[in-house]
Amino acid sequence: MDSRQRFLAALKGEPVDRPPVWLMRQAGRYLPGYRAVRAEHGFWDVCHSPELSTKVALEPLALFPLDAAIVFSDILVIPQALGLGVTFGTGEGPQVAHPLRTDADFAQWQRAGLVDRLSFLPRAVAHLKAALAGSHGLIGFAGAPWTLFCYAVEGSSSDEFMKPRVMLHTNGALARKAMDLLADAAADLLEAQLAAGCDAVQLFDTWGGLLSPEEYKTFVVPSLRRVTDRIRAKGGTTLLYARGGHHLLPVLGETGVDGISLDWRTPFAEARAMYPKLLLQGNIDPVLLFAPPDVVRARTRALLDTMQATSKYQRCIVNLGHGILPGTPVESVAALAETVQKAG
Ligand code: CP3
Repeated sequence: MDSRQRFLAALKGEPVDRPPVWLMRQAGRYLPGYRAVRAEHGFWDVCHSPELSTKVALEPLALFPLDAAIVFSDILVIPQALGLGVTFGTGEGPQVAHPLRTDADFAQWQRAGLVDRLSFLPRAVAHLKAALAGSHGLIGFAGAPWTLFCYAVEGSSSDEFMKPRVMLHTNGALARKAMDLLADAAADLLEAQLAAGCDAVQLFDTWGGLLSPEEYKTFVVPSLRRVTDRIRAKGGTTLLYARGGHHLLPVLGETGVDGISLDWRTPFAEARAMYPKLLLQGNIDPVLLFAPPDVVRARTRALLDTMQATSKYQRCIVNLGHGILPGTPVESVAALAETVQKAG
């Protein structure tokens, strides 16, 4: 089986020689080629150039035996295209110039022409698709409405995201309007990426785990369904990653997704017992990649054994339980990918 066949077979739940492997944030600052590109170009310039975006998306595939590429972009392209003014300061994470606090702020969001302003992303997908020439699977993505809402309201990264969480309960009407709009924008963007050649799309709900199951059900599931209903109507496959989402596991199945990308704290076997038919992806702790390669190999082997025992490797994708961290040793990433490759 070649990489793309294996990836497509996993999506369809067909038998595979071994699970495919790709890693969240597989392109990025831990790679020398990415750092060299960033020394010369701004982050948004890389996203807006199909050539540069393709170059950095291909770097991990050249270094490691991975089965899928993920288009190079960021979840914050949507708030940026809505006019919120997103910048990445060195070391401090994203900064939002015009955060959402009032109805008047929401009225400023530039919904008209949004798809055109985001057309660089499907263009990057098409360029990457042509460069891959069918060798690997191709994944598109968008931020989940709640996580985009978190950055839009807080205005920066945060441990607790108090402002968006408070707004759910003090101005639920505004929160709902904003999340609905973000959901529709995410659906537009995912549809465009599928039309440009992606094999599957992933929603990143990095801050989903901050909510209780009840809050997630009330405020987030309806907005996610707005996305998954549209993608399913187009025949696309949607994966959902919710960081810190162990307690949300029963609720995640109500979102209409085809697959769940598991956090490192969610036991794989527990998720499989709950969801025999869903695609399950994950869930090696990205911090483990700072351990010696032997430790990485053993943990990867243990995950493969669990995937074999619970699922005969079907509907399984090996991944991390969160994105690769800056400073991750390249040899650990190689140890992980090569261990999966040898399982076939
Ligand atoms: O290879 C890939 O996975 C594709 C690219 C990708 C990026 N961001 C590039 C990026 C993907 C899939 C993302 C998703 C993303 N972005 C998430 C969800 C996944 C997660 O990690 O939880 C989130 C929360 C963001 C928001 C974001 N973008 C933050 C918090 C930051 C700054 C700190 C950080 O984590 O890097 C970014 C900037 C960003 N996005 C960089 C990259 C490579 C670093 C920018 C730089 O070069 O300085």
